[in-house]
Amino acid sequence: MKFGALSFLAALGLATGVCANTVVSWERLNKNDSVLVVLDLQVGLYTVARDMDPTVFRDNIIAHASIGKLFDLPVVMTTSAQTGPNGPLPKEILEMYPNAPLIKRQGEVDAWDNADFRAAIKATGKSQIIIAGITTDVCTAFLALSLRAEGYSVWANAEASGTTSTLIRDISNDRMARVGVQIVSLFAIVCDLMRDWRATPGSAEVIPFLDRYFPVYGYLARGHGAAIENGTLIPGEAGLI
Ligand SMILES: *[C@@H]1O[C@H](CO)[C@@H](O)[C@H](O)[C@H]1NC(C)=O
Ligand SMILES: *[C@@H]1O[C@H](CO)[C@@H](O)[C@H](O)[C@H]1NC(C)=O
Repeated sequence: MKFGALSFLAALGLATGVCANTVVSWERLNKNDSVLVVLDLQVGLYTVARDMDPTVFRDNIIAHASIGKLFDLPVVMTTSAQTGPNGPLPKEILEMYPNAPLIKRQGEVDAWDNADFRAAIKATGKSQIIIAGITTDVCTAFLALSLRAEGYSVWANAEASGTTSTLIRDISNDRMARVGVQIVSLFAIVCDLMRDWRATPGSAEVIPFLDRYFPVYGYLARGHGAAIENGTLIPGEAGLI
């Protein structure tokens, strides 16, 4: 018996438990339609993040929060049981957004279970949600899955979520990706929001941001700038260009 391509794919889908509604078309971030969520990036929970170098991870959560400043996005912050061991958000983040909503959940693990948080997201009127949280498997995944179920588009900043092991990070990112959460890097988020170096914010604003939070590009720019400013070709270089 021969299968047409569609019936073959349908049979494969049934066999593997993949549902048709998990196939999500590619979508770009649009700075006019996105909101940045700082989810449980709390100083106590930070110590639970063991899948990344701790200094790099500290920088990554501050960088995640700073995306809102760079692109002037609405920001919603939330914490889980912050008077207990999970602790408050880092003061650097609180100082960035003194006027953004900060929903202190008393018990709800999935932020979407909290009515104030849902209201804060809905009040932004945006459909694209950029998130990162500690832990990847609980805070980030639970909210990301709930947001997908509600019809939102979700970008999970993989560098600013942390968890106990690389195994748990990987299975959690896979779980989110299967329902169409875009698992992305800081650089991908920033470039997708910027879209064009000539835009505003464009190179004038983004290069200083990258210099601080993505130094491989910042130092590239420093080297280029120094060469233009006061550089000279050394023997052997001329033939390379
Ligand atoms: C965002 O809105 C501005 C002002 O309406 C518009 O010029 C710009 O093209 C929009 N950007 C995107 C990515 O749609
Ligand atoms: C530029 O390079 C020259 C030669 O290496 C050096 O003497 C000078 O101090 C440099 N100027 C600046 C502004 O770095």
